Amino acid sequence: MISIANYHDRTKHSLQRYARGPETLDWDDQPNPFRRFDGCEHVLLPKPGAEVGLSWKELLAVDCLSPAAVTIESLGLLLELTFGLAAWKQYGPDRWALRCNPSSGNLHPTEAYVVCTHADLLAAGVYHYISHDHLLEQRGLFQEFEQSGEVLIGLSSVHWREAWKYGERAFRYCQLDAGHALAALNYAASLLGWRIELLQQYTDGEIARLLGIDRTDEFVEKERESPDWICRICYRKDMDAHDHPALVAATNNMNWIGTAQSLGAYHMYDWPVIEEVAANALKLQHGDTGCSLSEQPTDALIASECTVPATKIIRQRRSAQHFNANSPAITQRQFFRILSALLAFNEPAFTSWPWSPAVHLCLFVHKVEGLPAGLYCLPRSEYGLQSLQESLNLGFGWEQVQSYGRLYKLYDGDMRRYAKTLSCHQAIASDGAFSLAMLAEFDRHIDATPWQYRRLFWECGVLGQVLYLEAETIGLRGTGIGCFFDDEVHEVLGLQDKSFQSLYHFTVGSSLEDSRIQTLPAYAHLDR
Ligand SMILES: Cc1cc2nc3c(=O)[nH]c(=O)nc-3n(C[C@H](O)[C@H](O)[C@H](O)COP(=O)(O)O)c2cc1C
Repeated sequence: MISIANYHDRTKHSLQRYARGPETLDWDDQPNPFRRFDGCEHVLLPKPGAEVGLSWKELLAVDCLSPAAVTIESLGLLLELTFGLAAWKQYGPDRWALRCNPSSGNLHPTEAYVVCTHADLLAAGVYHYISHDHLLEQRGLFQEFEQSGEVLIGLSSVHWREAWKYGERAFRYCQLDAGHALAALNYAASLLGWRIELLQQYTDGEIARLLGIDRTDEFVEKERESPDWICRICYRKDMDAHDHPALVAATNNMNWIGTAQSLGAYHMYDWPVIEEVAANALKLQHGDTGCSLSEQPTDALIASECTVPATKIIRQRRSAQHFNANSPAITQRQFFRILSALLAFNEPAFTSWPWSPAVHLCLFVHKVEGLPAGLYCLPRSEYGLQSLQESLNLGFGWEQVQSYGRLYKLYDGDMRRYAKTLSCHQAIASDGAFSLAMLAEFDRHIDATPWQYRRLFWECGVLGQVLYLEAETIGLRGTGIGCFFDDEVHEVLGLQDKSFQSLYHFTVGSSLEDSRIQTLPAYAHLDR
C-alpha cells in the first residue's frame, strides 16, 4: 500500500511530465455531478434565494449577531449558501451549473449530509442534500435515539468523479474541495448567527457509519464515498457538549433507505493508488482538539469595508478564467485587507478550525500600488516565520514591509514569468495583481500523523475560500490553481527538504468576462 510520502511525490507535476492521468477524455461521458438515491423520500427545502439583511463587513463581526431559529428555512439557506447552485452557464449547446463552493474542474466530488436529532426540524435521521433540486433525501431514520437537538453536517467525496479527469493527483483536489466547503459552511453559518464545531472526536470509520456511506452494497463499486469531515451546528450560545458516544451508538439501530444511482460515465481508467492513499490517510483515532486558531494573535488586522450584502458576495463568487493584464494596480489597502483576512482567526472562516496555522504563503506580487513587484512571504504564525527563514533560500532579503509588518519581501523583481511557468503555464497566475503558493509544514505533520496530509489540504482550501470571497468584496476575482509544478516551485523558493511543500496556488486580479458565455439563474428550474 502506498505511503503518504510516496503518493505525494508520485503525484507531483513537473516541467518534464505531468502526474499520471487519463490520456484521453470523452467529454460527453462526464460523471454526473449530482448524486441521487433511489427509493428515498424527499424533503423539499424552501425556495432558494432568501436574503439576510447583513453586509459582508457585518458578517465578519460574528459575535454581534443573534442566532437565527433553527427551522427548515434557515437550514435550507445554510445548505444553499454552502453547497447550493449559484448560476448556470451556457455556451452553445453546453450548459453547466456553478455552485457557491468551487471545485477543481467543476467536477464536485463532494456530497453533503445532514444528521438530525432535532425532531422539530426533521424526523430524526440522516439526509442527503441534492444541490440541483435543493432538497433532502431521507437516507436513514434513527430507531432509538435521544432527542438531543443535534444538527450535524457531514461531508464525503466520490474520488472517482475527480479522478475521471485528473487521474492520480485527484485525491489532493478532493481534499482541497473539502477545505473550501468547510470555509463556505462557516461563512453561511455565521450569517445565521450560528457557530460551527468541527467534530474531531469522530474517526473516519464513525463518520462513514453515521452518514451511511460504509454501506458499500448500496453504491456502485467505483463510485463509493469516502468520509471527509463532520461538523456540528451550534445554533444556540448555550449548547451542551456533543454526546459523541450516544450518536455513534444510535447508528446500531438505524433504518437505512435507498441505493445510490450510478453516476454514469464509463470507467475507462483505473487509479488504484487513490484508494490506497485514501486508506492510508484515514483518521483512525479520536482527535484531540489541539490549539484553537482563535487563540492566535489577530493583530495587524485591516477591517473589511465591504457594505455589499453578504449573500450577494457568496452567490456571486466565481473563478476568473482570464485577467486583464493591463488593468491598473490594486491599492495597498485592498491587498493588505486580503492578506489580513488570511490571518483573521476570529473571522468566520477560521472559527471552527481547531489546529494551529500550518500553511504559509509565498506571494508573487505583480501589481500593487507603491509596492515593488517581487517575491514576498506571509508567515501565518511565529513558528512559520522562524522555520521559513531557516528553510527558504538563505539569500532572500526578509525585508519587513513597512506598511504591513506581517509581510516580508524576499526578492525584488518581475515575477510574472516565474508565476506563469510554475502554475502549469497558466496566464491567470501572471496577469492578475498577485498570485501565490501555499506552503504547508509538511514532514512535521505527515510523519507523526499521516491523516493530517488531508487536513493540510483542507487548510489550503479554507484559505482559498477566504481569497475567493475577499477578492469579490473589492471588485476583483480569484481562481484556485491546483495545477503547478511542485518541485520547480520548491526549487525557486530554495527549499531543500520536505519541511515545507507547496499544496495549492491561488491568483487574484481584475477578471475579463467571456461575453460569449451566458449566465442563467441558479434555480429557475424549480417550481417552488
Ligand atoms: C482545488 C481547486 C483547484 C483549481 N485549479 C484550477 C486551475 O489549475 N486552473 C484553473 O483555471 N482553475 C482552477 N480551479 C477553478 C475551477 O475550475 C472552478 O472552481 C470550477 O470550474 C467552478 O467554477 P467556479 O469557481 O466559478 O464556481 C480550481 C478550483 C479549485 C477549487
